Amino acid sequence: MLKYDYFGHACFGLDDGEHRIIVDPFLTGNPAATIKIDEVIAEYVLVTHAHGDHSGDAPAICMHTGATLVGIPEYIDPMEGAMQTIGMNLGGTLKTNFGFVRMVPALHSSGAPGGIACGYVIGMGGKVIYYSGDTALFSDMKLLGERDKIDCAVLPIGGHYTMDAIDAARAVEFVGAAKVIPLHYDTWDVIKQNPEDLKKLVKGAEVCILKPGESTEI
Ligand code: NI
Ligand code: MN
Repeated sequence: MLKYDYFGHACFGLDDGEHRIIVDPFLTGNPAATIKIDEVIAEYVLVTHAHGDHSGDAPAICMHTGATLVGIPEYIDPMEGAMQTIGMNLGGTLKTNFGFVRMVPALHSSGAPGGIACGYVIGMGGKVIYYSGDTALFSDMKLLGERDKIDCAVLPIGGHYTMDAIDAARAVEFVGAAKVIPLHYDTWDVIKQNPEDLKKLVKGAEVCILKPGESTEI
């Protein structure tokens, strides 16, 4: 089993009953956040890129919980020594105590000089999740579904900084996900969206719309 906890904006936790990870923690100053950083329990903190709405609280959580920070070296390296860190790069797979984390491409700016934005394919609790991170739609997403059977895609739909619901629906098709959870919308006016639009656009996959603070089983 795998529990998905939505903490608001692009932050979510995964819990297989034994291990917990948190992805893109932006809680302090996030109007949609449903937890505070001292409530986070995690062994790993995955960060897709260095923009504040993804990486904001990652160092503080790692220092507070002893969690290991995972990300691209250009973002990770300056924090080496202050916390546990694992720098990795696109195409790489990290074997972990809960399964695996594969860093995959995203089409977005990095927020860190010389870095690049990424997404993650995460194997945990017998399930495979694809979290695209902030990205535009690109056809190579198809390759992810060719390698792994994607049980759930977690995709931004806010537009403006990322793809919108129209492109996210295409992404679901590209990766062949059985389920899709939208995020990265409504936090601010500029990314206001009606997530119900995604339900109309997605064919052949379950659309799971969560409010910040809600959870689902993948
Ligand atoms: Ni970004
Ligand atoms: Mn973002």
